[in-house]
Amino acid sequence: MKPITVAIDGPAGAGKSSVAKAVSQRMGIDYLDTGAMYRAMGLYMLINAVPIADEAAVAEYCGQARIGVTYDGGVQHTWLGDADVSQAIRTEQCSSAASGVSKVPQVREILVEAQRRIAAGHGVVMDGRDIGTRVLPDAAVKIFLTASPQVRARRRCDEMAAKGQAADYDTILRDIQARDYQDTHRAASPLKKAEDAVEVDTSEMSLEEVIAAICRLVEAVV
Ligand code: DC
Repeated sequence: MKPITVAIDGPAGAGKSSVAKAVSQRMGIDYLDTGAMYRAMGLYMLINAVPIADEAAVAEYCGQARIGVTYDGGVQHTWLGDADVSQAIRTEQCSSAASGVSKVPQVREILVEAQRRIAAGHGVVMDGRDIGTRVLPDAAVKIFLTASPQVRARRRCDEMAAKGQAADYDTILRDIQARDYQDTHRAASPLKKAEDAVEVDTSEMSLEEVIAAICRLVEAVV
């Protein structure tokens, strides 16, 4: 049987990683969070004081970053050199740095190549922005996961509040809209739905409904 590949793309905050993780567990397929690799690249630039807005500098230094991924009990760990940066990359600063470095074609080339190597020869659920269009254009199942910016901002606020963090809805909504604009307007692999992707708008769906819908699509091609 050919290993099954599932591509899940969509804007920030659509729930891609929660959905992709759950689908991977239920279907017994590995999960790769590609955003984590862009975040690790962003962190590398921050640590080395490379100005993220300077595309030429980012292009020059990106080849030196040693970014790796390992799995421990099905959980992805993301590495920068010898350091496990899985937690460190979850800050707003890293999120913004990731968005900046992801515009640079040399960064995308390196990370797309690494992602294809990780996927080669076995099944994988991958989430990101360009999985169905570029990284795995032959993926058996392609999903484009969306939700309105307002719903995404509300979910993010609730997540932060649940962790006891202060959350301002208007600021979060503005951040989400700015990130959407950057991700869809960059020249290198802008976020867009692959022609053959199934669009799933999760604005009115529970997480469980989304997971079940995607598992059905995967089961249909197994
Ligand atoms: O999904 P995330 O928030 O962890 O992604 C961080 C940034 O990386 C986001 O601004 C978009 C970018 N990214 C990308 O350009 N291509 C991917 N395959 C994954 C993420």
